[in-house]
Amino acid sequence: MTPSPDRKRLHVITWGCQMNVYDSGRMADVLAPLGYAPAETADGADMVILNTCHIRDKAAEKVFSELGRLRRLKEATGNRMILAVAGCVAQAEGAEILARAPYVDIVLGPQTYHRLPEMVARASRAGASRAGASRAGGVVIETDFPVEDKFDHLPDSARPQGVTAFLTIQEGCDKFCSFCVVPYTRGAEQSRPAAAILREARHLVAQGAREITLLGQNVNAWHGEAPDGSSWGLGRLLRELADIPDLPRLRYATSHPRDMDDDLIAAHRDVPALMPFLHLPVQSGSDRILEAMNRKHSAADYRRIVDRLRDARPDLALSSDFIVGHPGETEADFEATMTLVRQVDFALAYSFKYSPRPGTPAAGAPLQVREADKDRRLQALQALLREQQARFAQACVGLTLPVLFTGPGRHSGQIVGRSPFLHPVHLSGHADLIGNESMVRIVTAHPNSLAGTLVQERLIA
Ligand code: 5AD
Ligand code: SF4
Repeated sequence: MTPSPDRKRLHVITWGCQMNVYDSGRMADVLAPLGYAPAETADGADMVILNTCHIRDKAAEKVFSELGRLRRLKEATGNRMILAVAGCVAQAEGAEILARAPYVDIVLGPQTYHRLPEMVARASRAGASRAGASRAGGVVIETDFPVEDKFDHLPDSARPQGVTAFLTIQEGCDKFCSFCVVPYTRGAEQSRPAAAILREARHLVAQGAREITLLGQNVNAWHGEAPDGSSWGLGRLLRELADIPDLPRLRYATSHPRDMDDDLIAAHRDVPALMPFLHLPVQSGSDRILEAMNRKHSAADYRRIVDRLRDARPDLALSSDFIVGHPGETEADFEATMTLVRQVDFALAYSFKYSPRPGTPAAGAPLQVREADKDRRLQALQALLREQQARFAQACVGLTLPVLFTGPGRHSGQIVGRSPFLHPVHLSGHADLIGNESMVRIVTAHPNSLAGTLVQERLIA
């Protein structure tokens, strides 16, 4: 009999996108056989992982200031705590982390977290061999893009994600938008095989998941090996996933307009489990800027895709990402973005000021936009998007919508669910409804949530 490993406490801090949330969970899975159990705080933990995001703003500076705080907690454990920096900042700025924060034990990029047990063992040995001394020089750094598929090396998750779960099916990006670090931090596009995805989805459902969101930096670029050796696209994968019993809801994020192929659009018509909500970033409504961004589609292409999607699924709600102030953006370009927003009408949107990322083409481009102009444009765009978001939520009032109950509410006797359009929905109901989908009449719309009353209990068992 193998002795059970010592129980150790692992705290993971996650910044950034849903992919990072998924990765953090998988890192915890990989470390569980070594005896690491989740800890609520970093204080006194045996290991802390800072899973970082590099997409915008002063990512590296934020990491260094958080590391300063963690350094003090590490010293309080007599330097026993293993401190790891993971994710996209680790990938992009590994050398700087080593130079500026030598007390960090492990620096690992997003493609290497399946090797964590080996890294932890090496970090522990380095620490032990210099007991009492600083660990500088014993740092383990893994930021290459290994050829082996990390997914082949990951155990099944023993940790239920809950009623709504994420499943990464694709990683990396070959599109090289002018402003974006992802192709550099996450590497080339890579699709997991269909059989592995179907297996993981069944496993999630067995653990209680009733809604699965398929994740990828370019999720609709997924082209995976099918069980019969042929190649499937995302439309086909969604049809197969929809056949899994007790899985009434599917979503996918994030998509690129260029990869919205006919079969995927048809899946929005044919697959009822596919929720009528799609995040489809457009970034800008100006053809000049779209070209400068290397998006390889026009504003009219985007509108055509949206029209086709709405023909396939008339209740489809759309969400998007926008960047204002990309180098070269004039007032007229910005107005074109505002026009596109008015034409499409979004249920939800994320908008950002362009932030130069080191090593990306746009960072060195001439005609950088003044900060004051970016601020003004962002405010105008966000006011319009907020108005559309509020109008969409208001339009749900009076409708009876299927709601999947995900957890208890703030007050006793309340539960929270999720509408088909991703709104949190608050209502009175028993906790034993959690995991079920029921019809709810929507009574009130708040800026970021809805409230309603139960009409019919349990659409699914
Ligand atoms: N500046 C501002 N926003 C950015 N995004 C990506 N890179 C940048 C950048 N350099 C936004 C895009 C993308 C979202 C995830 O983040 O809108 O779709
Ligand atoms: Fe970045 Fe563009 Fe790739 Fe999206 S498609 S991850 S914005 S390079």
